[in-house]
Amino acid sequence: MKQLSVEHLLGIKYLNKNDIDLIFETANHFKEVINRPIKKVPSLRDITVANLFFENSTRTKLSFELAEKRLSADIINFSASQSSVKKGETLIDTVNNILSMKVDIVVMRHPNVGAGVFLSNHVNAKIINAGDGTHEHPTQALLDSYSIKEKLGSVKGKKIIIVGDILHSRVALSNIFALKLQGADVKVCGPTTLIPKYISSLGVSVETNIKKALKWCDVANVLRVQHERMNNNYFPTTREYTQLFGINKEVLDSLGKKIVIMHPGPINRGVEITSDVADADQSIILNQVENGVAVRMAVIYLLAQQIKR
Ligand code: NCD
Repeated sequence: MKQLSVEHLLGIKYLNKNDIDLIFETANHFKEVINRPIKKVPSLRDITVANLFFENSTRTKLSFELAEKRLSADIINFSASQSSVKKGETLIDTVNNILSMKVDIVVMRHPNVGAGVFLSNHVNAKIINAGDGTHEHPTQALLDSYSIKEKLGSVKGKKIIIVGDILHSRVALSNIFALKLQGADVKVCGPTTLIPKYISSLGVSVETNIKKALKWCDVANVLRVQHERMNNNYFPTTREYTQLFGINKEVLDSLGKKIVIMHPGPINRGVEITSDVADADQSIILNQVENGVAVRMAVIYLLAQQIKR
């Protein structure tokens, strides 16, 4: 049986192209499963998964939970806001307490960069990074690429623009790694203050004119402006941001071609994207959410295969 080359999913940075192909092949199977009348398989009946969320989440948390349930795993959930972390407990103590309950896989979202790597060095469980600060969000990038492949047949050779707050976005970084690994042509577009200086070292170029960016691309992946991560004023006003980088139907219809619109959520309707664009038939935003469950099932399943039972 084919196996992943990694023991944990800490970032796309650690994967190779075969890993991505294997995850997608496995996700195809699970996508078929979740569209059956009985949406569940017994594959992980003896596996316990802990979902540790030290930062807010809606989609990602629900998606992981559903993926685990569809695989028949036992689940425990933990939210930092309702826990002893508030009483001063360290990450290692919190996690070791949870692991003494015999947990096999930990899915963790954490505000600190590298939290997943740290955990993988200190605890005896499979770690899946569900977002570590401004660093990586590997399952989001995998479901994004899977959705592009499903819509356009392949990722290789496709022109992808990532629009918005690149500097604070773990979705952007993981997407860049994943897309480049699969041979896509990637550009970013946004205010120069929100584009990291190292971007060209990732093989990515910058286009600051949104109209030119959209004219060039096959797919636009639109990001939210992450106000909660900003300790500075990176642009004057939200209104100005929308005027310069917001995507509306008028711009879209003026391109003379139909590009694919994506967004990882949560959407700030009327800021980075208008409602009619978010809901347009060329938008695959809800397909991304559906594919998220199948892709996460694949990742959990493949990591669980490595556990000696
Ligand atoms: C993103 C995240 O939390 O990194 N959302 C998600 O996981 N679907 C992006 C964001 O918060 O804007």
